[in-house]
Amino acid sequence: MSNLTVYWDQQIVGTISRHPKGEITFQYAAEWLKNSGRQISLSLPCQEERFSPGVSTAFFENLFPESDARTILAFNHRFDKKDTFAFLENFGEDCAGALSIIPESGDIPPHSSKYRCIDVELQKALQAIESDPGKHKLYPELANARLSIAGAQDKLPVYYEKGSFSLPENSASPTTHIIKPASPYFHDIQRNEVFCMDLARQAGLSVPHSELYTFAGYELFLIERYDRFHSENKVKRVHQEDFCQAMGLPFHKKYQEQGGPGFLHCRELAEEHLSADISVVKQKLTAVMTFNFLIGNNDAHGKNFSIIHKDTITLAPFYDLVSTQVYPNLDRKLAMAIGNTYRHDRVNQGAFVKLSKDMKLRPEKVFEIITATAQKIGKIYEKVLAIHEKQYGKAVIYSDLHTVLLTNLARIQEIMRN
Ligand SMILES: Nc1ncnc2c1ncn2[C@@H]1O[C@H](COP(=O)(O)OP(=O)(O)OP(=O)(O)O)[C@@H](O)[C@H]1O
Ligand SMILES: [Mg+2]
Repeated sequence: MSNLTVYWDQQIVGTISRHPKGEITFQYAAEWLKNSGRQISLSLPCQEERFSPGVSTAFFENLFPESDARTILAFNHRFDKKDTFAFLENFGEDCAGALSIIPESGDIPPHSSKYRCIDVELQKALQAIESDPGKHKLYPELANARLSIAGAQDKLPVYYEKGSFSLPENSASPTTHIIKPASPYFHDIQRNEVFCMDLARQAGLSVPHSELYTFAGYELFLIERYDRFHSENKVKRVHQEDFCQAMGLPFHKKYQEQGGPGFLHCRELAEEHLSADISVVKQKLTAVMTFNFLIGNNDAHGKNFSIIHKDTITLAPFYDLVSTQVYPNLDRKLAMAIGNTYRHDRVNQGAFVKLSKDMKLRPEKVFEIITATAQKIGKIYEKVLAIHEKQYGKAVIYSDLHTVLLTNLARIQEIMRN
């Protein structure tokens, strides 16, 4: 039975083999270990031996979409949705990070990029989603593309240039952006995410550029990929992995309560592996925790934080900053506990003191970051809301976001007073 070859740029990193029950095993190529010696994951350190199915499957499966998109894709391509090998075989050419996974053939993969414009197909797909959202998802509608992106929300990685969308035709054609369509279940979620990302940027957090893009009358959340860059007229890939991958956890453990990472584990990982000034990383994590508390983003789980592998390992920009609190039917539980609580409404000063221990920061420092972040947001959020409303037009979401921010800002003030 043939294997899959894992490439990083044009170089072979290793081989993926099928293992029973849909699992896989990964092994670095001897040449790669000799010449490059770079690890593709903190959970897959350089070694000659083949990795166990557990750790191999966890890393690669984390690249796949979750829920409906995965089920529909597997169904359309006639394989079991738990078949990790089959998924990689079909959709591994362009993933999060630098890896490209293609069936073993002995051929040298192409050097020149090739994209195909999907503007007509995309419009049709958006129409189909609008008419029957339960049945249609963006990604499977356009799934001739051999690409993959994680997450529960419907989305599509694309090559975007000058108002036109394309998909890769070969592994030498990285996507540059990710689009997410509007959702019939969560009103104006595309505007929600554009606003929250913009607010984060204006509050001083590092986030990729994103915007609300209207395509053929359909609003899309459009974000630049921070794991891509242009060089010599080509798009190149940068390697990244999320915290679940880095910790060797399967995607279904992305929530702390289900065994996923919490702030303590994120801090430990940062201390052990990140090259930047560790106190800066800890402060950034504390600031984004505060930001998420304020916008009511309860879904900041282990797959919503990533690290970048370049010459050194650094914290990736923040992404997926969305207010979930504006949707009353969404889970109120925090993806990562603050102190000892998973309940947004139970967070108190004691929780922040415990968090400071998890982060190995002085409580005064944590209080200072929380207060400074809240003050900054308090100063700008109404202006940013007004700008968005003016630029994109009125929508209920802006008043919902206003209410959530106002409420949570008042709560932070009260917590810090007591
Ligand atoms: N701007 C970006 N650049 C590079 N990679 C990104 C970017 N945004 C998201 N990703 C990658 O895509 C994955 C899915 O994105 P995102 O978290 O926004 O989707 P989601 O479906 O909303 O997630 P969730 O399941 O948390 O709701 C991320 O885990 C990350 O690996
Ligand atoms: Mg996410």
